[in-house]
Amino acid sequence: MKLTRRDILKLGGVTLIAAVGGSIFRATDQGMFSAGQGVAYEAWINWRDATNPLERIVAAGILASNPHNSQPWIFRISESMIDLFAAPERQIGVIDPFRREMYIGLGCALENMRLAAEAEGFKADIRLLPDPTTELHAASISLTESAPATSPLFEAIPQRHTNRAAYDTTRSVDESTFSGINALVTESTVRLIWMRGSSSHKRFGEVAIAAAEALVADEQQSMDSHKWWRQDWDELQENADGITLDAQGIPPFILGAAKFLPDMSRSSNDQSFVKNVRDIYIPSAGAFGILAVNNGKDNTQRLQCGQVWQRIHLWAATQGLAMQPLNQMTERADRESQLGIEPEFGNAIAELIGDKNWTGIMPFRMGHPTTAASPSPRRGLDQVLG
Ligand SMILES: Cc1cc2nc3c(=O)[nH]c(=O)nc-3n(C[C@H](O)[C@H](O)[C@H](O)COP(=O)(O)O)c2cc1C
Repeated sequence: MKLTRRDILKLGGVTLIAAVGGSIFRATDQGMFSAGQGVAYEAWINWRDATNPLERIVAAGILASNPHNSQPWIFRISESMIDLFAAPERQIGVIDPFRREMYIGLGCALENMRLAAEAEGFKADIRLLPDPTTELHAASISLTESAPATSPLFEAIPQRHTNRAAYDTTRSVDESTFSGINALVTESTVRLIWMRGSSSHKRFGEVAIAAAEALVADEQQSMDSHKWWRQDWDELQENADGITLDAQGIPPFILGAAKFLPDMSRSSNDQSFVKNVRDIYIPSAGAFGILAVNNGKDNTQRLQCGQVWQRIHLWAATQGLAMQPLNQMTERADRESQLGIEPEFGNAIAELIGDKNWTGIMPFRMGHPTTAASPSPRRGLDQVLG
């Protein structure tokens, strides 16, 4: 049975399901009726339930932003200490050949844990890369008791989701938002550069689109990205990681229809990714920014950049604003450097930053949402405590 979009609109939910008969099994298989549910999403609901406060702090860390939802982390708890380790087996291949994104993601987890530690009544003394013999030991958090201090950023932890939908083009980002965000960039090694002039805004968009095209044209990058695509509901529930259909910001009705279709092939996924960057992410963005550090290869600075990103994104959630990292240009710059080829995107980012003392490592867009973003799966405490 072939249904046009119009038929589908006319039929709506339950009737549609009856109309496609046997496809109901497929819809169930794809989690059509249970978006955001199941064991893979429990971490968003039970993050404050553990009896041990240190486990509750780790549970907050798990909910952080991270590259391709690879959750490249292991946490170790002792009496008054939490150690955060990188999980190199969860590196996203040549999308992140130098682990730039891995360390930014670890910094994001660290920021959530810092906020949770304060809320739990601890002063958190954070040491970045505390072990000179291994950079896999990303941070140690030493906890001493103090008065509990919850903040709006802490409360926003379960509300923050990456929003990949179109943003509202009728509403611009106001001055107080830029200054509110600028005030959150307190690390001296991190700087936020906004693309506020019309030419830099336009140029950012051009570079992002060209980078998306270059990324999918690179067979290995395309394959390494696709490894984290989770369309099959059982696979999603089992792995509790990766990028899902539900997290694409697709309008609910089209999302339902998409779940009837066979799993997207790598090439159709690549095509729709480039189309989304070109037709949705760039034209509907209210603002573009790039977080930069002095030394883009320094893991301490990458961790600090991650802390800033998480803080900004949490703050945006408190303001009802939407955010999405757009890392294709940095992923291409890293890949160029790995392959030793002409630094087309490396140069383009340097030009956008316009100051050779700073290297852009985390580009993003923001704006007013048109659709609420959905949660992404998370591995639970039992899977990340080492
Ligand atoms: C270093 C880093 C790079 C990211 N790059 C992108 C990106 O290029 N495009 C995108 O849509 N999301 C990107 N994200 C967002 C992640 O995909 C997202 O955080 C993850 O899937 C978990 O979803 P959540 O943020 O909704 O919890 C990035 C996140 C981090 C920390």
